[in-house]
Amino acid sequence: MTAACTLREARTTDLDALVDLLGLLFTLEADFAVDARRQRDGLLQMLEGAKNRLVLVATIPGEGAGVVVGMATAQVVISTAEGGPALLVEDVVVRPESRGQGIGRALLARIEAWGLRLGATRLQLLADKGNAPSHAFYRACGFTPTNLVCLRRTLP
Ligand SMILES: CC(C)(COP(=O)(O)OP(=O)(O)OC[C@H]1O[C@@H](n2cnc3c(N)ncnc32)[C@H](O)[C@@H]1OP(=O)(O)O)[C@@H](O)C(=O)NCCC(=O)NCCS
Repeated sequence: MTAACTLREARTTDLDALVDLLGLLFTLEADFAVDARRQRDGLLQMLEGAKNRLVLVATIPGEGAGVVVGMATAQVVISTAEGGPALLVEDVVVRPESRGQGIGRALLARIEAWGLRLGATRLQLLADKGNAPSHAFYRACGFTPTNLVCLRRTLP
């Protein structure tokens, strides 16, 4: 990652940029729909300050607190398989013009460090079956595929 890029926890003033980034991401993922209101509501809940949630942003120098060019989120889940905390990693996305500079890898490394401090022993995430570039990215960052399939049921 270039020296000009920094990682920090997101603030409510980043919300517009984060909603924009999630728009990019959900456009790629067949199972999710772009809905700015929902994405804002979800982010606001993530930002409420709970110790077991993290919203990270990558910024480059620009107006005010810098220009947000990437993001990733993590939440702690308790895994009975692990016998303790694991992290659910989501919302990993970097703006197209900032890709290929190590920002995605740096976001995951920062999440890993956060998880280790909380005693987490595993990172887990879901990736769209058709998103081959993301599979290559996660492989390069040390993730391996599992035998699990994701099932879901939407509640009324
Ligand atoms: C996937 C994504 C987050 C990667 O971010 P990035 O900042 O470009 O990734 P990095 O530059 O940190 O790359 C880290 C490693 O992954 C590899 N990688 C990244 N993108 C890759 C691609 N498209 N194809 C193959 N390998 C790739 C890099 O080569 C690098 O490996 P290296 O360090 O061994 O050279 C970014 O491309 C993106 O936002 N894509 C669209 C959203 C998305 O698919 N998110 C994942 C949702 S599950």
